[in-house]
Amino acid sequence: MTFKTIIEPFRIKTVEPIRHTTRAEREAALAVAGYNLFLLRAEDVLIDLLTDSGTGAMSSAQWAGMMQGDESYAGARSFYRFEAAVQEITGLKHVIPTHQGRAAERILFGTAVNAGDIVPNNTHFDTTRANIEARGAVALDIPCDECRHPQLEAPFKGNIDLAALERVLAENPGKVPLAMITVTNNSGGGQPVSLANIRAASAICRRHSVPFYLDACRFAENSWFIKLREEGYADKTPLAIAQEMFSYVDGCTMSAKKDGMANIGGFLALNDDSLARGCKNLLILTEGFPTYGGLAGYDLEAIAVGLKEALDEDYLRYRIRSVAYLGDICQANGIPHVRPTGGHALYLDAKALLPHIPWNEYPAWALSLVLYLEGGVRSVPIDSVMFGRQPDGSEKPAALELLRLAFPRRVYTQSHVDYLAEVLVLAKQLAPRIRGVKIVEEPPVLRHFTSRFAPVAGQLVVGE
Ligand code: F0G
Repeated sequence: MTFKTIIEPFRIKTVEPIRHTTRAEREAALAVAGYNLFLLRAEDVLIDLLTDSGTGAMSSAQWAGMMQGDESYAGARSFYRFEAAVQEITGLKHVIPTHQGRAAERILFGTAVNAGDIVPNNTHFDTTRANIEARGAVALDIPCDECRHPQLEAPFKGNIDLAALERVLAENPGKVPLAMITVTNNSGGGQPVSLANIRAASAICRRHSVPFYLDACRFAENSWFIKLREEGYADKTPLAIAQEMFSYVDGCTMSAKKDGMANIGGFLALNDDSLARGCKNLLILTEGFPTYGGLAGYDLEAIAVGLKEALDEDYLRYRIRSVAYLGDICQANGIPHVRPTGGHALYLDAKALLPHIPWNEYPAWALSLVLYLEGGVRSVPIDSVMFGRQPDGSEKPAALELLRLAFPRRVYTQSHVDYLAEVLVLAKQLAPRIRGVKIVEEPPVLRHFTSRFAPVAGQLVVGE
């Protein structure tokens, strides 16, 4: 007998209350926050799906590990545990801890990337792009074509465009210091990348003598999708699949706040001795000595345990199913979203839901505000606010206007998701009455974090 309900594979040992607010309170909170959900106080949010980064619940084994943290400045036991856990999965020679993923990016690009260089990727995450552009280099997105069609069902919409990769490397000899693939492709809808694609991209890079890196934040979720969807991998463990994935790369950057199951941390891992030396020197300058890299010993312990828990099959089955469960409800109610559902998040297709709002009145942003106003739910737009401003100061539309509902790991239960689904159904009913927003204050870079906005019609939902 097998049962159809896939349960949360844990029981709850500690709880953190969440707080209901009234619609009027949320309306006032939005005005104070300049209609930017990043500027809300978290206690004013009921269900927080802003990010899956650092927001997960740690396990009792992780907390127990933290008690064993060795806080020695140099050569701590915790570092060697951490290094062994990373090496078992990645097989990479040099493991350099950092305080989070973007620090690994800054150190890698600060050492290997120069002005005028080009770094291709399936889709760069915002911090990756910003760290490359900060070096005066070009962050080039070359996702596969399926990625551009949100409603299209395809198993590996996170793949890189191999022909484009070949072309970029052939046309720019000496100007591509490294190529990357992001697993899963966060900015492209949390979609997985196949092993066939990683293997082929690696072969292209080898042929052009270009180092090949993974942005490995969600490597465990990507491994699970490969197990489910790629021929020949159904009987392999997520660990074995991850090991094969890393066997094709020269290095990786990692935010341990995702599939490290920790609240903070990250690493850079690579094989090249001389590049690793350069990176460690820069690390000492800004992060810390190479055996702690800006982390406490106890953080290293939490990550060492977390990396293994992220590869647990029961956990991955539940994790991927929770997002698909919400996707099924959206599908049944005609709420457009990126199909199939991704690993860590559901991505609503705001362009399809709000076709009357032009890109420069930011439909995904407006939708995010309505989900908060009506249901206290916080989400994050991956849209023209995030990607619209160009390095030369001009503005152009992003490829897609998506609203990401990211699931923190091991935090919310099925009833939270059922509540969320009710809020989405209401937003769909209100859609024709939702109006866009304009930017009234904007910082020079990464504008989505701190810009302030105003509703173009004076209110978010008209005709109330
Ligand atoms: N790469 C990807 C694919 C990411 O998703 C993130 C973070 C980073 C790099 C940077 O890692 O935050 O530890 O510095 N993504 C978070 C998110 C913030 O909400 O998707 P970090």
